[in-house]
Amino acid sequence: MTVPDEADLRAAVAEELPAAQADLARLVAIPSVAFPGFDHAHVERSAEATAALLRDCGLTTKIVRAGGQPAVIGVRPAPPGAPTVLLYAHHDVQPAGEAEKWDTDPFVATERDGRLYGRGCADDKAGIMVHVTALRALRRTFGDDLPVGVVAFVEGEEEYGSESLERLLAAHRDEIAADVIVIADSTNWEVGVPALTTSLRGIVNLFVEVRTLQSAVHSGMYGGPVPDALTVLSRLLATLHDDAGDVAVPGLQSRAAAPLEYPADRLRADAGVVDGVTLTGSGPLVDRLWTRPALAVLGIDAPTAAEAPNALVPSARAKLNLRIAPGEDPKAAYDALAAHLRAHVPWGAQVSVTVDQLGAPCVIHATGPAYDAARAAFRAAWDGVAPVDIGVGGSIPFIATFQQMFPDAAILVTGVEDPYSAAHGPNESLHLGEFARACVAETLLLADLPARLSP
Ligand code: BES
Ligand code: MN
Repeated sequence: MTVPDEADLRAAVAEELPAAQADLARLVAIPSVAFPGFDHAHVERSAEATAALLRDCGLTTKIVRAGGQPAVIGVRPAPPGAPTVLLYAHHDVQPAGEAEKWDTDPFVATERDGRLYGRGCADDKAGIMVHVTALRALRRTFGDDLPVGVVAFVEGEEEYGSESLERLLAAHRDEIAADVIVIADSTNWEVGVPALTTSLRGIVNLFVEVRTLQSAVHSGMYGGPVPDALTVLSRLLATLHDDAGDVAVPGLQSRAAAPLEYPADRLRADAGVVDGVTLTGSGPLVDRLWTRPALAVLGIDAPTAAEAPNALVPSARAKLNLRIAPGEDPKAAYDALAAHLRAHVPWGAQVSVTVDQLGAPCVIHATGPAYDAARAAFRAAWDGVAPVDIGVGGSIPFIATFQQMFPDAAILVTGVEDPYSAAHGPNESLHLGEFARACVAETLLLADLPARLSP
């Protein structure tokens, strides 16, 4: 077999891009939200559509579930002596949120100024299409004799916390075992600068509820000596950060990130921080974003301001989101935060803390032949720009599970997002030029791995 050169593989990807965009648009048209309360028939349809795409790439596919939403497994065994690569993405999406905040229909992929807009255009239906496009380009180049074994694993409830993923992985462990795992669900550093993600924070979501009264009472008759629950909750939440804005909960771990410069102006612009608001906390921005705890109040249950009567609020509840440093234990972090909340509730109010979700952080030791291959492939695909090793502040908790299940596999966390992708927000989008480069990179990587990993 003659080894195809880089130009052949690039040309094959270029030929596949129109079909990739059309198939991405078909996936985006399916509102596959795995959250409770949404019509899960759409997640079934997106699983079927994903399975059909993988089947057309020559994989043997099946749809599997373990009490949650359907995942797709596609397998093509390795030729003798060649490595097997697991390709991960997810076919579920975040809810679209408020319709009026979108400039175009979230479920109609719409191209504008080199970007494709729509829910899931980036996170993570483009991840599916990178895998599919790389497989199609390889088939165009190698015919039926793919150089590597492939296992595609596309789950259907990532955005809802991958509740059944561990059971799925355990049930199908032998089918999905691989030498290299490519998780296409992260972000690049900038448009034009690729990245390999080498650490992610973990997540601790909890509810804290405070109570001061059996039920609401007249605020004029009792106000003064009788504390209301919303003031109690506000004072409690105010203890979570110090005056500089650093998390004030004792016992949480922090570490230093790689010495990358994230200019404050760029962060402000990327996040859309409004004029006059200062950035909170101290130290390097990449540490604050990637390797230290961050704590946010996500929501509060209390009377709405417009309809609030003149009554003392008897109980109030907040949902907190703690991001924990790579290396931290989620349960230990939860215990530390719960202890802080119990210790700081003012005026003897009753307090109860309940866990919502725990997710592990991870650190990836990104050295070895698979990483060398990935760095070379990314550099080539981005026309000589080497990938940056980044951390991300978000969480992909099952990476820790993959690390435990397949301790010898190299885990590559890649992705199609860029700082303007607005994953989870209105007007989510994919940079089509970056998508093309991500497809080239994965194609080159898969073609190169056998030479890099052979004994
Ligand atoms: N793709 C994200 C993780 C991510 C965020 C990668 C930012 C790169 C940059 C993932 O889909 C996600 O949103 N995860 C959830 C956690 C999950 C347990 C629901 C998160 O981080 O909130
Ligand atoms: Mn995602």
